[in-house]
Amino acid sequence: MKIITIIGARPQIIKAAAISRAIRNHFSSKIQEIIVHTGQHYDENMSAIFFEELQIPKPDYNLNVGSGNHGAQTAKMLEGIEEIILKEKPNAVLVYGDTNSTVAGGLAASKLLVPLIHIEAGLRSFNKSMPEEINRIACDHMSTLLFSPTKQGVENLQKEGFKLTNQKPFTIDNPRVYHCGDIMFDNSLYFSELASTKSILSELNLTGTFILSTIHRNNNTDIPERLTAIFEALIEISTVNKIPVVLPLHPRTKKMMETNLSPDLQKNIASSQYLKIIPPVSFLDVIALEKKASFVVTDSGGVQKEAFFFEKPCIILRPETEWTEIVENGNAILCDADKDRILNAYQVLSKKPDLTYPPLFGDGKAAEFICSEILEHLG
Ligand code: UD1
Ligand code: UDP
Repeated sequence: MKIITIIGARPQIIKAAAISRAIRNHFSSKIQEIIVHTGQHYDENMSAIFFEELQIPKPDYNLNVGSGNHGAQTAKMLEGIEEIILKEKPNAVLVYGDTNSTVAGGLAASKLLVPLIHIEAGLRSFNKSMPEEINRIACDHMSTLLFSPTKQGVENLQKEGFKLTNQKPFTIDNPRVYHCGDIMFDNSLYFSELASTKSILSELNLTGTFILSTIHRNNNTDIPERLTAIFEALIEISTVNKIPVVLPLHPRTKKMMETNLSPDLQKNIASSQYLKIIPPVSFLDVIALEKKASFVVTDSGGVQKEAFFFEKPCIILRPETEWTEIVENGNAILCDADKDRILNAYQVLSKKPDLTYPPLFGDGKAAEFICSEILEHLG
């Protein structure tokens, strides 16, 4: 069978490694994967860096859409993906997560009546002012096979009318919902050992404890008060506790810091002896950092989960999360972009509460399961 996989933003490129690896190792004679990169992310360290390191096949197509307003960006992707589907005539289209590339792939496939496979189905923030929430709801409702990484995801879908009792043949009107575990858990396990060979810790002179932080959500970067509160909190925690904070900076944040932070705060950040702001790093480098960090402070969906995979407490710079299990289990605290809440959460988690890390995200074999179900029902 032939599937078209749509990728575009950094986390999807990384996710694609798990499915491509499963196809290569177990299904190469049965599944042909055509990879379409929309070009949503395009800097070397947001895209190209991942392909070789994670053994992801080179994209068969790159639409090179680049950045832009959401409507224009999504429209360009839609047009390009539609043309490719018409030419390649796949049995199915596969999309990951909740970005504009995801929804463009979903729309293109469903309008051409090609079955859609959604990996990371069912996640909800219940906050429709997030562009991702609209994208993921739309994609779930355009899909034929929905693979949810968590039990909560399946429950969310049931509340929206999806039935677990549907029988094959599965279609967009009679979809199949799976609870299958998280392909990013597969990836984190698979790449963990390789990450130990990386030299980023010594390159950054990290000999003791440190905090890993990432910031990129639009409602943190684009609202000056929120971005200011986050940076003030990071400076205070690092200075008071004399602990370095490593911050691989997303290009969006780099750009918005220049306009949304006061000149004084920008000066404090530049002169801080503890804040190590670096360009985005490779996935193996992030894992190397996550494994050795004592804390993670992030607004990233992927990074908050990887903190859990590598058993690190996490401060989430958002008012809510789709990964509710890690908050309910006490491993992460939602702090929004509120300086006092961030400082307080740091105190609480520093006291080393008795945290456990139960197997909430599967057995590391989600990708193989997904491929075998795709083959069985859409092949
Ligand atoms: C996108 C996703 C978000 C995901 C994130 C992962 C949407 C709506 N958002 O957000 O869900 O969590 O990717 O990182 O799809 N830029 C560069 N170089 C690049 C890419 C982006 O400079 O290679 C800059 C551009 O100024 C661009 C801005 O970053 O305008 C935002 O990029 P965009 O892809 O629109 O959204 P993200 O914030 O990256
Ligand atoms: N990541 C990376 N390099 C970095 C920062 C993050 O490879 O400098 C990885 C991270 O390990 C995770 C993924 O990118 O697997 C998360 O992407 P991002 O935070 O951009 O998006 P989100 O998960 O919030 O959609």
